[in-house]
Amino acid sequence: MTAAVAHDSKSTRDPAAGAGGAPDVRIADVTKRFGSVIAVDRMTLEIASGAFYSLLGPSGCGKTTTLRMIAGFEQPTEGEIFLAGQPVAGVPAYRRNVNTVFQHYALFPHMDVAQNVGYGLRQRGTTKAEEARRVGEALELVRLSGYDQRRTWELSGGQQQRVALARALINHPTVLLLDEPLGALDLKLRKEMQLELKALQREVGITFVYVTHDQEEALTMSDVIVVMNHGRILQMGGPTDLYERPVSRFVADFIGVSNPIAGRLVEVAGGGLGVVETDRGMRLRGRVTDTTASPGVGDAVIVAIRPERLSVEPAAAANTPDGAIVRVAGTINQGTYLGDQTEFRVATELAGELIVRRQNAAGAGSGSGVGPGDPVMVSWHEEANLILVG
Ligand SMILES: Nc1ncnc2c1ncn2[C@@H]1O[C@H](COP(=O)(O)OP(=O)(O)OP(=O)(O)O)[C@@H](O)[C@H]1O
Ligand SMILES: [Mg+2]
Repeated sequence: MTAAVAHDSKSTRDPAAGAGGAPDVRIADVTKRFGSVIAVDRMTLEIASGAFYSLLGPSGCGKTTTLRMIAGFEQPTEGEIFLAGQPVAGVPAYRRNVNTVFQHYALFPHMDVAQNVGYGLRQRGTTKAEEARRVGEALELVRLSGYDQRRTWELSGGQQQRVALARALINHPTVLLLDEPLGALDLKLRKEMQLELKALQREVGITFVYVTHDQEEALTMSDVIVVMNHGRILQMGGPTDLYERPVSRFVADFIGVSNPIAGRLVEVAGGGLGVVETDRGMRLRGRVTDTTASPGVGDAVIVAIRPERLSVEPAAAANTPDGAIVRVAGTINQGTYLGDQTEFRVATELAGELIVRRQNAAGAGSGSGVGPGDPVMVSWHEEANLILVG
């Protein structure tokens, strides 16, 4: 299947534009089967030069298999892969201008840091002086200057992963493939490394293809996120696009949290607007997000609403309604203080339970006036209603 690139207002470059020629990687209608398992299912994808791409999807959806085919460790069952415009069927992994960083660092234990980083250069017969210079540069890039003589087992997990990165970057590959490289690190270090990796990618300008099943990680780092499930691409685009305009319930649920409300499309207006009658008989106006396979009148759809777009207030304090504001009465089932936010679960007529997230203002405390059992009014602007094909 083919997915169009939607552009993100946040990204600094146009990821589809490439470097005035062929994309760095082109996957053309590729299927990979292992016996009866279809790991990758008719995937078509172009990866433009110099951008940070993430392949995001649940376990088993085919992310690693896709990377391994680009790297040359696996061959497609059908279809073709091109690197810099050239078909690479039959080209062995070591002859592709692509390097891979894995979750487990796979450093050589009998070599020190400098020897690990310089490994690829020695294989190519680079002079000692040139090797020393480039190893120094690569270690500086990953902020490990001065660690040359260290043994790899003396390093922390984050440091080991930096050595693996330096080793992978030293040959200036066209594309760097990263398969959950931060998966073994604790949360705090992982967050630091995410920002560092992104900065590093900007600095070296090498195309990164980053595999993760962590949506937050993909949102933090990527210019383009490719959402996969069952070996297929469901949607691709910049982080804002995917969060604000998911085209399916899977993407809306996988990237962030959403309140899905089932119903039927009863009216299609111009400008991507529609009216949905929910299964419980309420009418909601909203935006149809999938402009390629738009649902028609009578089709079953989902109205998805992000929890942070909903407000909750005591029923007695309800304001004068405005035409574009949706209001639903409910009762608080639960309020959970999350530090920066409070999450409320509200029983309403519209849905069994609506999840509402409220940013906690300074000094506001955890409850902010409403608690379990209280009658409340949940309200939101109808712009927050995303109409998705179920
Ligand atoms: N060498 C293999 N032999 C048989 N089946 C395989 C092989 N490699 C992968 N598969 C199967 O192909 C599918 C895709 O696997 P893949 O490793 O690409 O998933 P993934 O998206 O990387 O998952 P995870 O997030 O768990 O790493 C899975 O069903 C997996 O069991
Ligand atoms: Mg994997």
